[in-house]
Amino acid sequence: MKIGNLDIGSKLFLAPMAEVTDSSFRKICKEHGAGITFTQMVSAEGVIKNNFETLRHFSFSRNEKPIGVQVLGNDPEILFDAAKEISKHKPDLIDLNCGCPVEKVCSKNMGSALLDNPGMIGKLVRKMVDGANGVPVSVKIRLGKDKSRINVFDNARAIEDNGGSLIIVHARTRADKYDTEADWNWIGRVKEKVSIPVVGNGSMFSPKDVKAMLDATGCDSAMIARGALGNPFIFSRFNKLMEDGIDPGEPDSATVMKTLLQQINNLENEFGEIVALDKAKKHSIWYFKYHSGVSFLLEKVFSIKNLNDLRQLIQEHADRILHTAADKDEHAIIHKKFQRKVLFWLSEEDSTVAG
Ligand SMILES: Cc1cc2nc3c(=O)[nH]c(=O)nc-3n(C[C@H](O)[C@H](O)[C@H](O)COP(=O)(O)O)c2cc1C
Repeated sequence: MKIGNLDIGSKLFLAPMAEVTDSSFRKICKEHGAGITFTQMVSAEGVIKNNFETLRHFSFSRNEKPIGVQVLGNDPEILFDAAKEISKHKPDLIDLNCGCPVEKVCSKNMGSALLDNPGMIGKLVRKMVDGANGVPVSVKIRLGKDKSRINVFDNARAIEDNGGSLIIVHARTRADKYDTEADWNWIGRVKEKVSIPVVGNGSMFSPKDVKAMLDATGCDSAMIARGALGNPFIFSRFNKLMEDGIDPGEPDSATVMKTLLQQINNLENEFGEIVALDKAKKHSIWYFKYHSGVSFLLEKVFSIKNLNDLRQLIQEHADRILHTAADKDEHAIIHKKFQRKVLFWLSEEDSTVAG
């Protein structure tokens, strides 16, 4: 598949995820064969005001390319200026977020609140294309506000007609948030309606799922979010499946440990010990979620006070479970919990998903 002059073949995209797709994780996913990665969404207003946190969220190094920067906004002039500013950093794609279902975003008429207004989406895309200095512009959309108001074709056409280079279809409605099964059927139908590339997103947790979505829809590529948490291996496994028809399968606990420790080092370099520790604890659970003994790890991990103790715990844990087969019942329970909410170890009230 080509985006502008960039050919990423059929490789998987890593989805934008707030508080997750920082540079440390993007690098790991790239090393494992992700076709393109994304920053988390950043406020267009923050970009033009040089807000420190915003700049931090969208900064990337040259060796992370190809990369997309995702913006959140609803004002054509601000998005024009933001695209212009972002384009100076030479990302491979600038994406407009029209999918975020979080109330605090939608109440400001941004994210998935824009879905109701294809005319406005078209206008925003046109302004971004005008500002982006030749960097291709994409839009990540959902199917519509809810099942009775699916207008994904109108939005797809508005994106294409106004110069958008790519459409990413998250095959759920705004009302679905994250916990229903994505309806891939719509991705295939959008693909038939437009001539720019279409990327499908939603409910893919294994290389087999990705292939099934691509086969069912005929779309150009797939974007994966929760299926990549603690699982950068999904990229290399999928690439191998496409090349040789063979999925090498889940990695053993030694490989998982090695990759996680590498990510923890990346996190420490990027954020320093205190912030890195908090993030590293979440990733540690995600990496080991489908291995035996994750409940034991959960009990221990949140009381850890520094990165070296965390590294030691991870090593001991990986050694302990190296020859222990996963408990099928525990695996099934965690799998269900994880698909319902990302921070599956918290209670329903405590667990929120941004994005
Ligand atoms: C923790 C988390 C953060 C997210 N943040 C963003 C974001 O910043 N921008 C965005 O467009 N989508 C965001 N999303 C949505 C994902 O990109 C993706 O569309 C959604 O999770 C469906 O894909 P999946 O079924 O593979 O998880 C986020 C999802 C999660 C789980």
